[in-house]
Amino acid sequence: MKKITIEASSEYDILIEKGLLDRVGELSVPVTGKVKAAVVSDDTVFSLYGERVVSSLEGAGYTGITSFVIPHGEESKNLDSFTRLITYLAETGYTRSDVVFALGGGVVGDLAGFASACFLRGIRFIQIPTTLLACVDSSVGGKTAVDIPMGKNLVGAFHQPSLVLCDPTVLDTLPPETFACGMAEVIKYGMICDRPLFELLAASGDPRENIETIIEMCVKDKAAIVGEDEFDTGMRQLLNLGHTIGHGVESLSDFSVMHGEAVAIGMAIITRAAAAMGLCPTEDCQSLLGLLRRNALPTSTEYGAEDIYRKSLSDKKRKGGTITLVVPHGIADSRLISCPVETVLDYIKQGLQS
Ligand code: NAD
Ligand code: GLY
Repeated sequence: MKKITIEASSEYDILIEKGLLDRVGELSVPVTGKVKAAVVSDDTVFSLYGERVVSSLEGAGYTGITSFVIPHGEESKNLDSFTRLITYLAETGYTRSDVVFALGGGVVGDLAGFASACFLRGIRFIQIPTTLLACVDSSVGGKTAVDIPMGKNLVGAFHQPSLVLCDPTVLDTLPPETFACGMAEVIKYGMICDRPLFELLAASGDPRENIETIIEMCVKDKAAIVGEDEFDTGMRQLLNLGHTIGHGVESLSDFSVMHGEAVAIGMAIITRAAAAMGLCPTEDCQSLLGLLRRNALPTSTEYGAEDIYRKSLSDKKRKGGTITLVVPHGIADSRLISCPVETVLDYIKQGLQS
């Protein structure tokens, strides 16, 4: 079993192993004790994996296990689901010593994590990620949130999980396009800071063959970043590579372009721009574009620069007249650049033209 420890305001482990889902109870009890457990999931994931998790928790001695299931999809990550979940926890008699298990992708993890942060001023929660994105990113690092009509993730809290239990076999049931979206986040780590990961991805055919190693490498990268900057005031912003421009594309498409696809387009645009400006070697840019395409991810868009720019500016990374952009200077070498917001338009124009 692979174990990575996060050293943030609280310390916790990420355990990765194929088949681990049936040992969720046994692995969690040493962390939480035999307390009351709520399993939060979405309908798709719960119907696939809920029974195995619940029976593992029962077998390990958890008491009064109940489940709270939301409809799948981003539409469920809202204040209404949040209110229903905390009401459910209160009505069902959960106390501060009990624990919430988040079984699902980033939507379930963010919602269950935010409810756990707020209920009784904070109860423990354990992440059981079931999408590639959740395994390599959202389940680790303690960002929790829900969406409001004014934007995604605008209401949230930092609340670290007590444990993350990752079973890569659950990724076998993911729709291929959801797996590909997770690969955008994986490739992102390669461009930010991890040359061996980038080279492994470039050298291997099907990433599923090395998925346990790939998840481990990404989680180690995230552990290092979160350990340095838990509250996102500095280097953690590197994880936003491709997100500012991607956010523009995603909202222009009214979210028909999936998040991972938009991140891929955003990474491609900003890297092409960096190459055109002489900041990033052209061959590194070409390697990135090739890797994205090989993983069934888009590298261009039909939207115009001005439109993308306008939508990008609602990005949370903006501070008044300046914005922090993540600009690749080569494989495994992305840097934070604070610039006037108008500069984003230059990057988009360059990235679309070249
Ligand atoms: P998701 O949770 O909506 O899952 C995508 C789809 O896959 C859903 O329909 C789900 O039911 C289905 N699914 C999940 N696991 C499955 C499995 N094993 N087999 C079959 N189907 C499965 O989406 P996501 O991409 O995992 O997460 C996106 C969310 O994560 C966004 O809300 C985003 O804001 C958030 N996020 C948070 C962080 C963070 O640090 N907290 C980081 C990145 C993204
Ligand atoms: N996914 C971005 C972060 O955790 O900071």
